[in-house]
Amino acid sequence: MSNIEIFEESKKYMPGGVNSPVRAFKDVDLTPPIIKRGSGAYIFDEEGNRYTDFVGAWGPMLLGHCDEDVVKAIKDTCENAIAFGASTELELRLAKHMCTTLDNVEMVRMVNSGTEATMSAVKLARGYTGRDKILKFAGCYHGHFDGFLVSAGSGLLTEGIPGSAGVPEESIKNTIVGQYNNIENIRQVFNKYGEELAAVIIEPVAGNMGVVKAENEFMEELRALCDKHGTLLIFDEVMSGFRVSYKGAQSLFKVKPDLVTYAKIMGGGLPCGAYGGRRDVMEKLSPLGDVYQAGTMSGNPVVMAAGLATLTKLYNNHEYYQHIDSLGLKLQEGMKAIAKEKGIPLVVNRCGGMMTVFFTNKDKVTLYEDVMSCDTNLFKRFFTHMLKSGFNLPPSQYEAMFLSVKHSDKDIEEFLDAFRKFQV
Ligand SMILES: Cc1ncc(COP(=O)(O)O)c(C=O)c1O
Repeated sequence: MSNIEIFEESKKYMPGGVNSPVRAFKDVDLTPPIIKRGSGAYIFDEEGNRYTDFVGAWGPMLLGHCDEDVVKAIKDTCENAIAFGASTELELRLAKHMCTTLDNVEMVRMVNSGTEATMSAVKLARGYTGRDKILKFAGCYHGHFDGFLVSAGSGLLTEGIPGSAGVPEESIKNTIVGQYNNIENIRQVFNKYGEELAAVIIEPVAGNMGVVKAENEFMEELRALCDKHGTLLIFDEVMSGFRVSYKGAQSLFKVKPDLVTYAKIMGGGLPCGAYGGRRDVMEKLSPLGDVYQAGTMSGNPVVMAAGLATLTKLYNNHEYYQHIDSLGLKLQEGMKAIAKEKGIPLVVNRCGGMMTVFFTNKDKVTLYEDVMSCDTNLFKRFFTHMLKSGFNLPPSQYEAMFLSVKHSDKDIEEFLDAFRKFQV
């Protein structure tokens, strides 16, 4: 069947033809290619078309598609262990690896997705502090948990909806929405709600309003306010963890989080997530403490094996991050130079291997308002041109594109050649 035939048939059986909304390409008015296989930096659709992939499964595929060590770990494990719902040594190995190689993780709990990690971390913070309110930031996405679905960036921005139907008022009445990189705003929020706030959750390098890095002073003030008011600081590193550097966005700031959430890369492409942090907070979790969180599939052996293969490979090969960073720089500078030549209004934000091309006349994009000023029609034309030229990018102005270890200089040069041919 052709891409379009499969997509049309899928619409009969799955809402919108997809299992996650952004895959439907609604914002760019196109039929999405139906992907059959992936290898290294490339994916191939059902019609045999090849795309150089800058989506990487929305982040996880830092090692490229079907990395040989990850594939071997999965195969070797599933010969003997698919699921037990019981403890395994593999869980210990991954947990120990994370706790010993990451800076702010003394204990960790494995879950099955980023959403599960963030919602569980918030519940834990509430249980630990005995408070109900949380502060999140406009444009940051932390998964589809009810309490996060206000000003949640990414898929919701793409769909042009402020929140989600089906979320009772009750579920969001304890969610305060702050302004990213706005120090005055967080001071006001803490003045008003400081003693009621269980946690602040933040993407320290946001990827879900496009890539926007938090500023140092902002993060330092946030930490100081949390300390003053007894509020826990949660870094959502579902996207930035193991991506902007092995140790994630935490390594870019002087401040330390109390809890951290992971997913995406840490599962090597299988459904995975984790939250971890201070021992005294983590010990509040059941069965030690009274905060209940559980999962039939949590710590699944095949997932643990894929995660362990991925994280050990990344940890043992720090040069991967240099490779990705140098390709990212080449891409960023190349695009800026071409845009200048052609008079295309463009700001390129990048942090290591995650990057967003904002179509805007602004000089820089550091605030949510800057993001919202972008020309989404121009983005749409850019996206369509690049897809037709064989480059798979996230189908939204408000997402991050990702580089992998398997991308080469040639891939970047071909990307820049295609961009040069973009007729504005
Ligand atoms: C920063 C962040 N947190 C949480 C999530 C939710 O993760 P998942 O889609 O695995 O539930 C995402 C997903 O993109 C994310 O980018």
